[in-house]
Amino acid sequence: MQQLILTQPDDWHLHVRTGDMLKTVINHTARQFARAIIMPNLQPPVTNTEQALCYQQEIQKATSSAYEFTPLMVLYLTNSTTIEEVKKAAESAAVYAFKLYPAGATTNSNQGVTDLQAIFPVFEAMEKYHLPLLIHGEVTDAEVDIFDRERLFIDQKLRVIHQSFPTLRIVLEHVTTREAVQFVQEAPPNIGATITPQHLLYNRNAILVGGIKPHYYCLPILKRETHRLALVEAATSGNPKFFLGTDSAPHMQHLKENSCGCAGCYSAYGALELYAEAFEQANALDKLEGFASFYGADFYELPRNTKKITLEKTDWQVPASYSIAKGLQLTPLKAGETLHWKLKD
Ligand code: NCD
Ligand code: ZN
Repeated sequence: MQQLILTQPDDWHLHVRTGDMLKTVINHTARQFARAIIMPNLQPPVTNTEQALCYQQEIQKATSSAYEFTPLMVLYLTNSTTIEEVKKAAESAAVYAFKLYPAGATTNSNQGVTDLQAIFPVFEAMEKYHLPLLIHGEVTDAEVDIFDRERLFIDQKLRVIHQSFPTLRIVLEHVTTREAVQFVQEAPPNIGATITPQHLLYNRNAILVGGIKPHYYCLPILKRETHRLALVEAATSGNPKFFLGTDSAPHMQHLKENSCGCAGCYSAYGALELYAEAFEQANALDKLEGFASFYGADFYELPRNTKKITLEKTDWQVPASYSIAKGLQLTPLKAGETLHWKLKD
């Protein structure tokens, strides 16, 4: 049987929620990954270090003792984030970054930032304390077409942030366009990007052809095929600025299969296997380890993992759904379909 032995990977962009959802999804992640950058868009959001420490404990309690897993915490920027908070976060052993959600851009972003200029002093402090800024890069103006929101964010906002704070470390999260790839490629090494499995595997037809398919709906929304190809090329290029971040974003089935369905794809159950599909399709399995296990750790200036994991070339069927609590189901990306790589337990 064909095998792929890799250094254990990390997930540099992950939503795990709380309560019953957390108890299921965290173990799907911990089975594969050594560390994950935990997104703070809870209701209410994780805005200070005390809250991050509490949330980190809840995650650790929900994680099976069979796994060695470290949640790396992130704080949610609001209009009232202070410079003192940045200092406290930098001095804590738990917080690794701040996340910028433009208000209204995505799930639970209503308390996000409404005026970027107003929080420039906070960016300045992050630059000084060497804390990365993670960005959901979409403009939110109602008149801007949803497919153009990332491209316009780069031109109107990201260039200004980068020029104003040239040494601030920035991760443009879940890039979805050729323009985002190009921006990151041309920027200095303190600018990186995560890429999700769904943006490598699908274009926007997945959401809309043959009926509305809510389980492919995430933000930033899937784009045209030309953009998907640019993402595949970036992910498989061996350029260390591009690294693994699943953006696995679980929502209960009834909230996705809804007349106003939530944004987010659930991929944590088989994240590495999904990336392996994408890399194999691109004939680039030899580039998977750098993308999944090295470049993110290097960007965050953390040691690379030393344990190894094994992927085997064997077919398995993705469950139709996962049971989260009585009467509550979670539908995974590729529900009921066959994957061709399987993580060996
Ligand atoms: C994420 C979520 O559900 O928290 N949804 C998504 O579509 N990606 C939020 C986000 O990362 O935008
Ligand atoms: Zn996300």
